[in-house]
Formats: sequence, structure tokens, C-alpha cells
Amino acid sequence: MTTADPTTTDPTTTDPIAVDETTTVPAPEPTRTPRVRIRGLRKAFDDKEILRGIDLDVRAGEVVAIIGPSGSGKSTLLRTINHLERPTTGLVRIDGEIIGYRQSGTKLYALPEAAILRQRSKIGFVFQHFNLFPHLTALENVSLAPIHAKGLQQTEDVRRQARDLLERVGLGDRVDHYPRQLSGGQQQRVAIARALALQPELILFDEPTSALDPELVGEVLDVIADLAREGRTLIIVTHEIAFARRVADRLIFIDDGRILESGPPAEVLDNPQHDRTREFLSRVL
Ligand SMILES: Nc1ncnc2c1ncn2[C@@H]1O[C@H](COP(=O)(O)OP(=O)(O)OP(=O)(O)O)[C@@H](O)[C@H]1O
Ligand SMILES: [Mg+2]
Repeated sequence: MTTADPTTTDPTTTDPIAVDETTTVPAPEPTRTPRVRIRGLRKAFDDKEILRGIDLDVRAGEVVAIIGPSGSGKSTLLRTINHLERPTTGLVRIDGEIIGYRQSGTKLYALPEAAILRQRSKIGFVFQHFNLFPHLTALENVSLAPIHAKGLQQTEDVRRQARDLLERVGLGDRVDHYPRQLSGGQQQRVAIARALALQPELILFDEPTSALDPELVGEVLDVIADLAREGRTLIIVTHEIAFARRVADRLIFIDDGRILESGPPAEVLDNPQHDRTREFLSRVL
């Protein structure tokens, strides 16, 4: 028997989903259950609260860009969505499934690590510093997780699919290169192909271009824009404001662990409601 800790979270009292059906995004939802539903999310490290009550719904196929000052909690939010960080309180649901917990009656129990890994395999994550395995080729980096998930018998299928993915991000001629033999932009495109390999329901990007030389930024943004056009569900933390304006359906400004603004990019950028947003935009634009 697993001895998961009962958490103090009682979904009937602290998860406002049942009583808060109206505080969703204004745009009409194609399905009743959003792809991502975040309610009352808080995260503290030691005594310092970094996320201070995040509520956010993301529809399937929606592209949400997140901007905000350094230290405001953007990476922590992404890491909490896929349970690399366990929320202090609050819940994340993906397609209705609670991430990190199983519900039994009115109690939540922490899932064992293997079950969390299974949930996480449905959420792609692209990091600022690529995080490729240096001793594996591009093809091996992209194939590793699916071979693990599907078993060795399907290695040939997986490799074929990995090749296709690398082709799609414009790296069909680089499949046997090691990360050190690739430019930053190419490495990040390998990382995106890797994020696609398990057919994720959601892809999280944490400043995917901020480690790149300026001339390499465009090639990575183009790949992300293609994913947006394909109707994938994307949450992108970025400092590329022009890109966010062009590609995102919604732009969110986070300040000090809270969502301060959320709306169509043009609205948020051209007519921000808060001084903090204006101040931030005047620094980055
Ligand atoms: N594991 C951790 N332990 C302790 N503090 C942490 C941890 N992770 C993040 N923090 C703190 O949380 C705060 C928010 O960090 P976070 O990385 O989420 O900010 P950010 O908005 O992504 O900033 P940046 O734009 O610089 O990437 C920072 O003060 C950071 O030091
Ligand atoms: Mg960050």
C-alpha cells in the first residue's frame, strides 16, 4: 500500500471550482473543461510566498504569453504547473485531472513519483538553457523519453518519429550531431522537438530565446509560432514582447506572485490598467 500523505487540502472547501464557475476567461470556451485550470495556487519557499494566489484557465489550443519582472514568479508558476514544485496550496488540473494528487472522497493524497512522472509526460517543457543531454545526439535526445515510455520493441518507430520531428523544426540534416556541434538556436529547436515527442497536451516555455544570440532568436520563435498555428496549447514566458503581441491569444502580466493583467495582447500592451504594468513595459519596450 502506498503511504501517501493526506494533504491539508480539502477539495470541497479550498478548491473553489465548484463555487467559482463564473470567474473563467471571458472568451467562449469550445469545451466545458479547459485544458488547464489553476485555482488558488500559492507557493512559498521557506517563509517567502512567491506565488500569491494564481487563478488561470487556458483553453485547448490557446496560446498564453506571460511577462513580468525578474523574480515575480514566472518560472515558479511554470514549474508548479507540471509539479516540479509542489504547490503550498491550490490545484492545477489538466483536462480535468488534478496534477500531483489523487482524490479520494473529499481528501487529496500526494501521488507517488512514478504517477507524477506519467502526468508530467503529457506536459512538454522547454527551458531557457535547453537542458539537452550532452552525450546524446539530437536524435537520441528526442527519442529517449518515448523509448522509455513505449519500450524497446518500438525503437524503430520512435526513431522514425524523432527524425520527423527534427525535420519539422528544420534540423533534418543535424540528427546525428551532438549538442556541442549545434548552435544555440539549433539546440533549442532540438529541445522543442524533444518536448513534442510524447505528444503533449500542453507545452510550457520558460524564456526559450533569452539565452540565444539575437540573430538566432527568430528561428526559434518561428518554430513556436508554427506550433501556435497548429492549434497547440502553449504557455510561454517571454521577454519578446513583439512576438507575444503577434502570436499569443492572451497576454498575462505577473507581478510579485499575482496576475495583475490578463487580456488580448494589444489591449494589455497598449492600454495597461496598472502603473506596475506601464512601468514594466516602459523598461522592456
Ligand atoms: N527552489 C527555490 N528555493 C528558494 N527560492 C526560490 C526557489 N525557486 C525560486 N525561488 C525564488 O522565487 C522567486 C521567484 O523566482 P522565479 O524564478 O519564479 O522568478 P522569475 O519571474 O522566473 O524571474 P526571471 O525573470 O529572473 O526568470 C525568486 O526570488 C527566487 O529566488
Ligand atoms: Mg524565470
